[in-house]
Amino acid sequence: MRVTDQIETIREIRWSDPALTWGLVPTMGFLHQGHLSLVRRARAENDRVGVSIFVNPTQFAPGEDLAVYPRDLERDLELLRREDANLVFVPVEQTIYPPGFAATVNLKGISARLEGASRPTHFAGVTTVVAKLFNIFQPTRAYFGQKDAQQAILIRQMVTDLNFNLKIVVCPIVRESDGLAMSSRNVRLNPQQRSAATVLFRALTKAKEQIQAGQRNGDAIRMAMTKMVQSEPLARLDYVSAADPMTLEELDNLDGAALLSGAVYFGDVRLIDNILLEP
Ligand code: PAJ
Repeated sequence: MRVTDQIETIREIRWSDPALTWGLVPTMGFLHQGHLSLVRRARAENDRVGVSIFVNPTQFAPGEDLAVYPRDLERDLELLRREDANLVFVPVEQTIYPPGFAATVNLKGISARLEGASRPTHFAGVTTVVAKLFNIFQPTRAYFGQKDAQQAILIRQMVTDLNFNLKIVVCPIVRESDGLAMSSRNVRLNPQQRSAATVLFRALTKAKEQIQAGQRNGDAIRMAMTKMVQSEPLARLDYVSAADPMTLEELDNLDGAALLSGAVYFGDVRLIDNILLEP
């Protein structure tokens, strides 16, 4: 496994044999089984696997958790060696954003909804860095988690709109045994918050059951999820949503596909989760 902080080294290795297919897994590190599920899928579908580890400052707003975002590069590299990754890119900030850097990739409309309503500058940071990683690696396929549903939707649209020549693969959410979606941020929860944190998945699951039992009213579903999250004293609700999975507009009527999602704070740790209902 090669580890490098140099863009030129990535390019040399990537193009040393142009006949080989490459899968890319972009991450911010502190890897868990959710990340590793993407690496395994990439391993199964490509000749070579590249992984990037970069805590991207432009997707954090001032006052968010950039400074305390968990990091452990040695552990990450050991996990990636065990998964038989071929190439790991660990750039420093100046390599990605050199002095004078001025470009932004921003998608109008859907990047302002849901997560974008709470974090207005977040997705421009994500789409800009992912566009750069796609240009640096030029992978055959790139792997993302359904955990960040809106991110996956935006990246698919960016690939379409900007004609990136690669395929996006979105992989299922990996959960802890009690249902909590795996997240690098989960280690920042204290034990009480950790047990309370399942409330979001429980609210999403209950909403799914209510819809499957015939409830069609979007407001009623959002109200039920809100009440359930608010019944947990350690939880501070940011938002819940029952939205069209394409446009991310809130649905009045839940009679087809729907993305049930939400964001909840436990102390200063902000967690997100979702369940996608197929039509
Ligand atoms: P990060 O939060 O490290 O996540 C990297 C990838 O792992 C994302 O595609 C995310 O959706 C996926 N992932 C995280 N938790 C998961 C889980 N429990 N199950 C399945 N997949 C999971 O997302 C980012 O980094 C950044 O925004 C990035 C795309 C790297 C751009 O900076």
